[in-house]
Amino acid sequence: MSNVQNYIDQNQKRFEEELFELLRIPSVSTNSSHKPDVKKAAEFLRDNLISIGIEKAELHETPGNPIIYAEHSEAGPGKPTVLIYGHYDVQPPDPLHLWKTPPFEPVVRNGAVYARGASDDKGQAFTHVKALEAWLKSGEKLPVNIKILFEGEEEIGSPNLVPFIKQNKEMLKCDMVLISDTSMFAKDTPSITYGLRGLAYMEVDVIGPNRDLHSGVYGGTIKNPLNAMCEIMAKLIDDDGRVTIPGFYDDVQELTPEEKSAYAKLPYDEEALKKELDIDAITGEKGYTTLERRSARPTLDMNGMWGGYQGEGAKTVLPSMASAKVSMRLVPDQDHKKIARLFADYIHQIKPEGVRVEVRDHHGGEPAVTDLHFYGLQAASEAFHAVYGKKPLFSREGGSIPIVADFEKVLGVNSILMGFGLNSDSIHSPNEHFSLNDFHRGIKTSAKFFEVLPKYK
Ligand code: BES
Ligand code: ZN
Repeated sequence: MSNVQNYIDQNQKRFEEELFELLRIPSVSTNSSHKPDVKKAAEFLRDNLISIGIEKAELHETPGNPIIYAEHSEAGPGKPTVLIYGHYDVQPPDPLHLWKTPPFEPVVRNGAVYARGASDDKGQAFTHVKALEAWLKSGEKLPVNIKILFEGEEEIGSPNLVPFIKQNKEMLKCDMVLISDTSMFAKDTPSITYGLRGLAYMEVDVIGPNRDLHSGVYGGTIKNPLNAMCEIMAKLIDDDGRVTIPGFYDDVQELTPEEKSAYAKLPYDEEALKKELDIDAITGEKGYTTLERRSARPTLDMNGMWGGYQGEGAKTVLPSMASAKVSMRLVPDQDHKKIARLFADYIHQIKPEGVRVEVRDHHGGEPAVTDLHFYGLQAASEAFHAVYGKKPLFSREGGSIPIVADFEKVLGVNSILMGFGLNSDSIHSPNEHFSLNDFHRGIKTSAKFFEVLPKYK
């Protein structure tokens, strides 16, 4: 094993350069004009996997973006099989003008690489590829069987991965899934995420008169769709920070007293968060702590709203329509399809007179919580300890990786969420970055995990 860790130390610079090459590909899945770039990123990963000497690596076309599947079964039967999952698609870099350096031209500042996808998820997913390289190229026998699944549609809800895993159950058979697409609890505080929230993502159009109107000539006579949108949206959350949609909380699993006390023991600094974000209060649903609210409670948030005049200066106009995007983060046992339906029904019910509404369901995903007794988590814990010098914390996270619930439902396996990112990495935001030290430690942790896993089986 020391050969493996030495190999990682000796090749650090080249690993970084390869990551930067991947980061230069603008593989934005939300935007169809980037489809060729998304494919390029897939090809890069397939070719990289082939170059490290993996037994099999192939690109599967789908109606959307390709899926990369790879396999290495040198360990043989009787040894655990780990399915590594990651995504090579990224969120749009907008708003572009807020980036200090261009999003697809990686640069290193203060020990971190800045680029869209640096942390979410190219940098994190690539740690496992380089950990495998270290095993395969340093002459040591890889102690576990590996399967790899990289997709290019995670950021749009994995529409083609779900059918792919259903159709390829036998090929994907494994003992567990290993994923690095979450955050550590804090800097130098490794953590294993054992829960993720689900998601229902909606779009609402409020439609008024058949054309824009002079706001003086018509003001006072019609229902302004933007005003109507504000009225509708303002009704969705009450003064206690609770979502008002009837039935919204019906299936929510409340935290047990044990879970509450585990949450209370996690080191969490609200003052530091206020400072980091430059805000004067941390708020949310009444009756729950911040940590509970951001991972074990459902939420409703507008992600965008538009309509009317947004250019320079003042234009006096009543817009003919207004639109909004709304995400709802969900927790066990909420069902995203049911929540989407409740949302749509409620919007229709509360819309004011004089406008029409149209509600669309973009995508959704189920929440997931892993059993803390799963043996793979102990192996992950030992690997973190070996590299970071401390035992990881166990926490639930607020973000979503929709396929995790499907891995459990379809393949019947747990996922180990071994994140190396930080919440301060600015994922989905301008100036996303990833600490190169954590990239390096991530590679080592992954390599160590493969070493120690067999003894826990
Ligand atoms: N890597 C994130 C999810 C994440 C981030 C989990 C931080 C925990 C901590 C992932 O790429 C992501 O952004 N997922 C989307 C899913 C959605 C588009 C279906 C999300 O959570 O918004
Ligand atoms: Zn993301």
